[in-house]
Amino acid sequence: MVQEQLDYHIREVTLEDLQYTDSVVKIVNEAYQTGDSWTKARDTFDFDVPRTNAEEINGLIKENVSNKKTHILIYVFDTTHKEESVIGTLLANYPNDKGESEFTLLSVAPQYQSKGIGGQLMHCMFNRIKRMGATTVVLDLLDNRIDLVAWYKKLGFIEIGKKEFNWRGNTIAGVSSLLMKKDI
Ligand SMILES: CC(C)(COP(=O)(O)OP(=O)(O)OC[C@H]1O[C@@H](n2cnc3c(N)ncnc32)[C@H](O)[C@@H]1OP(=O)(O)O)[C@@H](O)C(=O)NCCC(=O)NCCS
Repeated sequence: MVQEQLDYHIREVTLEDLQYTDSVVKIVNEAYQTGDSWTKARDTFDFDVPRTNAEEINGLIKENVSNKKTHILIYVFDTTHKEESVIGTLLANYPNDKGESEFTLLSVAPQYQSKGIGGQLMHCMFNRIKRMGATTVVLDLLDNRIDLVAWYKKLGFIEIGKKEFNWRGNTIAGVSSLLMKKDI
């Protein structure tokens, strides 16, 4: 069987991308929730809580193109066929006065994972925020997400501490947030 070559393109969102919001919500929630992701959280979190919704995504797109911009929202598009589709997302905040930039909403649609796309998306984000003055990228994640922690370490992140895990008021007994950073 001949495998079709995958072409993809990574760029910051524009207002035109409001048309993709429904599929973006699906991709993010599937990547975070279904357990189809190879980096899935194991056993400990109620992933029936959707990670995002259309209102949040539309708000982020509109803010992304406004003068009050505080973040960049980046999409990955599958451009193999004439009709392009969104297959990945990442949201990075503008750096604070210490040059630190946080990111969130990192997702690659489960059927597109393990092809190097997530790594490319991260490198694209590093380049963008560096140009905006960032010197360090920081994140926190569940300390029991062993696969994901190893993935971030491969990208050059190091562990810098732990704090109590609390996502929208949800805490989990015995699980903490692991803080990681990478100098860029
Ligand atoms: C985290 C995520 C974005 C990674 O995206 P991805 O496109 O699958 O990642 P990549 O293909 O770029 O990763 C490549 C590396 O990861 C590792 N990897 C990829 N697939 C793997 C698998 N199935 N098992 C183990 N390691 C794997 C390999 O080490 C590979 O490195 P190599 O090129 O040196 O072999 C994606 O899994 C995802 O959307 N997860 C769910 C949402 C989430 O948890 N987001 C982060 C919240 S903090």
